Amino acid sequence: MSPIPKKILCIGAGYVGGPTMAVIAAQCPQYKVTVVDINAARIKAWQTDDLPIYEPGLSDVVKKARDRNLFFSTDIEGNIKEADIIFVSVNTPTKTFGEGAGKSADLQYWEKTARDILKTSESDKIIVEKSTLPVRTAAALERILHPNDKGIHFDIVSNPEFLAEGTAINDLLNPDRVLIGSRESARGKKARQEIVDIYTNWVPRDRIVTSNIWSSELSKLVANAFLAQRISSINSISALCEQTEANITEVSYAIGRDSRIGARFLNASVGFGGSCFKKDILNLVYIAESYGLYEVAEYWEQVVKMNEYQERRFVRSMLKALFNTVAGKKIALFGFAFKANTGDTRESPAIFITRRLFEEKANIVISDPQALDNARMDLDDIVDRISFEADPYKAAEGAHAIAILTEWSDYKSLDYQRLYNSMHKPAFLFDGRNIIDRDNLFKIGFNVYSIGNPPRTHFEEP
Ligand SMILES: NC(=O)c1ccc[n+]([C@@H]2O[C@H](COP(=O)([O-])OP(=O)(O)OC[C@H]3O[C@@H](n4cnc5c(N)ncnc54)[C@H](O)[C@@H]3O)[C@@H](O)[C@H]2O)c1
Repeated sequence: MSPIPKKILCIGAGYVGGPTMAVIAAQCPQYKVTVVDINAARIKAWQTDDLPIYEPGLSDVVKKARDRNLFFSTDIEGNIKEADIIFVSVNTPTKTFGEGAGKSADLQYWEKTARDILKTSESDKIIVEKSTLPVRTAAALERILHPNDKGIHFDIVSNPEFLAEGTAINDLLNPDRVLIGSRESARGKKARQEIVDIYTNWVPRDRIVTSNIWSSELSKLVANAFLAQRISSINSISALCEQTEANITEVSYAIGRDSRIGARFLNASVGFGGSCFKKDILNLVYIAESYGLYEVAEYWEQVVKMNEYQERRFVRSMLKALFNTVAGKKIALFGFAFKANTGDTRESPAIFITRRLFEEKANIVISDPQALDNARMDLDDIVDRISFEADPYKAAEGAHAIAILTEWSDYKSLDYQRLYNSMHKPAFLFDGRNIIDRDNLFKIGFNVYSIGNPPRTHFEEP
């Protein structure tokens, strides 16, 4: 192996593999970076201007490096052979069957990749765990790859990805930290240094944190668990605010000003979504259970339960406000993505809310600037009985209620007078993200319900 590896391969061209490798290629012209995937349609889309994922700033970064030193390919075997460093960023969803179903990580894609690497490789390689994995996965990976009859040595490095969808490019260009873990042996440390050397092309050295491999694997799960815990904590308090006339925005602000607590991730909402939080916490729960640490498992599981409670509570408050029935009523859902600035709808609270309102026989119209295609797929069993409308003004025509489910900035600046005029009266607005000016909407004539605030209605609450 050459001392300065020139060929980087990433297996998995998804929300992590695509943006991460685009940034590495754009920042490090001296490396040839190739991204492969079994999904040929996804690879094809990466080769066009119609990228397979929406992420602000992504297309500029891709355009800068594509066909210069960034390539997308379906030739997995050929590229494994060539590569010096292989990042693996395949999906690691929650297992849906067998032992650990509903909690543990499904590592079948991961293991298949490891076996592909073993089968195809002809030279030593560094294998980088980019996917989020249970702590001690590197040990399993080493068991698959070593010993082998080819005399090839694989060094395993853990480099979990902390990007957040919606801000991925900025997160990658200006990360709070990059974490790189390895075995503490001389070989392990040398492999770790090769990965450090990639990032030092644009990340200040003091932001690159190195650790042992288990700390690195575990830290990723713990980071997601802590972030989700903050959301569940503030959401639990939003329920209390609604009963006591305390205002959740004021409470968040007041507590967030404590530098020990900090202001970020304290917005009350309809609940967290995304492909990672729930699956990673449940994975942590499963790991704790498997070590017999039941109290630890229960403690973290509560974060997920609180999130489910918040979603249920939102639907219940809609039903109660709409005189205990939504049957036949037109409800416009503003936003389906799990958060703003992404088209990703995986585990979006909007999925649960839509399904519950559908069960209650509401006439649902879904609007979203980026996520309608994914929404159609999430709801494929009921897709014919739901409407999809990109234009929020059209979506709200004749509606009894609007429910804001994603904090798209567009929704803050809509002409709410125009929306109100076109709606059925009395008109209701449920703000699941606390983004609208309640007083203003109340003055227009809306009955306003926003998370963590007492309702503002033009009639006595029942
Ligand atoms: N999405 C996020 O915000 C985020 C952030 C940090 C970490 N992660 C973690 O990164 C990993 C990937 O997440 P993602 O959101 O990019 O997932 P994704 O589903 O968008 O992408 C994974 C890709 O891997 C491909 N793949 C699966 N098996 C393969 C194989 N054997 N060979 C080649 N390609 C294969 C799939 O076709 C898919 O395109 C997960 O472990 C996730 O937990 C995700």
